[in-house]
Amino acid sequence: MIIAIDGPAGSGKSTIANLIADRLKFDKLDTGAMYRTVAFVCASSGIDLDDEKAVTARANDLTITFDTIDGVQHVFADGKDVSREIRTPETDRIVSKVSAYPDVRKALLRCQRHFAATRNVVAEGRDIGTVVFPQAEVKVFLTADPRERARRRVLQRLGDTQLDQTEIDALVEKTLADIERRDDLDSHRAVAPLRAADDAYHIDSSSQSIEAVCDKICALVKQVS
Ligand code: C5P
Repeated sequence: MIIAIDGPAGSGKSTIANLIADRLKFDKLDTGAMYRTVAFVCASSGIDLDDEKAVTARANDLTITFDTIDGVQHVFADGKDVSREIRTPETDRIVSKVSAYPDVRKALLRCQRHFAATRNVVAEGRDIGTVVFPQAEVKVFLTADPRERARRRVLQRLGDTQLDQTEIDALVEKTLADIERRDDLDSHRAVAPLRAADDAYHIDSSSQSIEAVCDKICALVKQVS
């Protein structure tokens, strides 16, 4: 079975997909992590991100794998753990350029379908229900108010770091601008833009607990099982 969860940046897809995967004992496929890995690997090896050919060539010969360590899914680029590096504001800034290249998407699409060929998967991204797995048994389009998404992203990245409210507010404003810019690029690209599948179930998580959202998705899974 495939559960497809699509939605804009910071809508809670990863958190929800992790919980659902744990509850149902499914494997998790974080497709955003794959695009982030391509962007990070290219940028850190000096490839010009405007050079579509060079970026595509690197994407085609890059091996991206996942492994769970202490309950947390890590991402590896040619065997090197890049989980931390792909989650920086710098990678946030460059990833949408790389993910708009059609042949980069083709390369990752092959890996994504291969990953799901032999197992039950919760896949999250932007085009899972529309392009990667249009046959998915359950499709969810997860949204939340942009400011709430920015606030969650800031708190998630701060972890235990203590800041005063003024500093947090400034970070939320900056993150909000980044998120809106990335959503705009992801929604308006020519290939596989961020879009809800016609048969997707829409969930706005702005004022719902994570558990309530998971319960809803698990109920949808039950209906089709
Ligand atoms: O979900 P996450 O924020 O990690 O995704 C990072 C970026 O990867 C997105 O902003 C988008 O440009 C790209 N992406 C995509 N298609 C997907 C998943 C992510 O284009 N299925």
